[in-house]
Amino acid sequence: MKHFNFSLSQLDYCIAICLLFVLLLSGCGLNGSGDNSDEGSTSSETTSELAALGREIYFDENLSNPVGQSCASCHLPTAGFADPDSNFPVSEGAVTGRFGARNAPTASYAAFIPEFRFVFGGGGGGGGGGGHYEGGQFWDGRASTLELQAQGPFLGILEMNMTDRDAVIEQLRISTYASEFAAVFGDNALDDVDQAYQQISQAIAEFERSSFFSPFSSKFDAVMAGTEVFTLAEQNGRNLFNGKANCNRCHRAGPNSIFSDFEYKNIGVPPNPSNPFLALSVDLNPDGSAFVDSGLGAVLNEADQNGKFRTPTLRNIGATAPYMHNGVFDSIEAVIDFYNRRDVDAVIPEVAQNVDNAGNIGNLNLSAAEIQDLAAFLRTLTDGYQ
Ligand code: HEC
Ligand code: HEC
Repeated sequence: MKHFNFSLSQLDYCIAICLLFVLLLSGCGLNGSGDNSDEGSTSSETTSELAALGREIYFDENLSNPVGQSCASCHLPTAGFADPDSNFPVSEGAVTGRFGARNAPTASYAAFIPEFRFVFGGGGGGGGGGGHYEGGQFWDGRASTLELQAQGPFLGILEMNMTDRDAVIEQLRISTYASEFAAVFGDNALDDVDQAYQQISQAIAEFERSSFFSPFSSKFDAVMAGTEVFTLAEQNGRNLFNGKANCNRCHRAGPNSIFSDFEYKNIGVPPNPSNPFLALSVDLNPDGSAFVDSGLGAVLNEADQNGKFRTPTLRNIGATAPYMHNGVFDSIEAVIDFYNRRDVDAVIPEVAQNVDNAGNIGNLNLSAAEIQDLAAFLRTLTDGYQ
């Protein structure tokens, strides 16, 4: 039976399959929650087998050098799918003392991030006034899809540090789930290293599209479903989020939303002098303490995009401290204080170009009580409430 991978990158293929087998398939999993496990058709079984294989790989600590680090080490389900180690603003790689430049974002709801693209027409995201960039995985969108994202960490010297693809596939050959890999991709699938490496990323991406990563089980969801009510503080926080504080200009709110417009902004986050990446040796960080993270601008080599990062989801935000691309803020309150007083306190940004000044951002005039209420609302976005 041919395996159907309902990834966003294969939208056309998926549509074609849907048209052909419309009676067999009730959905294409395109909404990112693609858990078709109880539909009963062969393709659905294959899909859930693929996700189960992805789960094995996601938690496998033998795919790092030295062994001991898995995807889950930095995207732990019980830590909001982010790094449970909040001693550092960024994550330590498999090699002790090596750190990446950026804070690990949650992997929850990443399946809802559209592919990286330029959208023509109006919209505030920059790009010369004629449109804006949106979507893509990583803070700077440089991996268009979940599949491409999943191919990165194994080989990153500041992350899982495997020598090459062969070394990764060799570990799969001797893994406890080698037979599952063969069951999904064919008996000799692990013989073709490049193909098998792609297939690993398909399996991980399928797992990331399952409801395990995007359960919509927060208090916020319960309130939206009418089975729970906000406290007065949470309700006031929600009103502020959508009103006076205008957070929803970028973190788009609403039932089933993931609180992102997927666009790129420089909100003027300050540099983080305690980022241990800055202290790495010159072979790992050529710029030393002068390192500046230009975000999307560095990916595209466009000065107009310098300092811009994709608006992150706010789901599970109560569990994923520290915050921002460089982990500069330890708490939700510190984040809100920054939005509240950035311009009042003249906070010096990491990148001075392209700083967003629309509305009252940076001078929201929130009281201490309002900051607490806004934080209380954000904490209702943590899954596992129901
Ligand atoms: C050493 C810690 C570490 C490990 C191990 C790790 N990640 Fe990440 N992950 C990060 C960091 C840091 C980023 C952001 C990097 C950037 O933006 O350049 C990230 C980004 C992501 C994103 C993008 C989320 C978003 O909002 O853009 C996904 C999805 C993800 N990782 C999944 C995985 C998977 C799957 C694995 C295993 C193959 C993995 N990660 C291994 C630290 C880690
Ligand atoms: C102009 C668009 C915009 C507005 C308005 C906005 N944000 Fe953000 N938000 C972003 C971007 C972009 C980032 C990531 C910036 C970075 O890391 O450099 C971010 C990051 C965050 C983070 C950290 C997320 C993480 O995973 O580290 C939180 C929390 C947050 N915003 C909450 C809020 C709140 C609360 C408000 C309203 C007071 C708000 N935002 C208003 C665009 C916006």
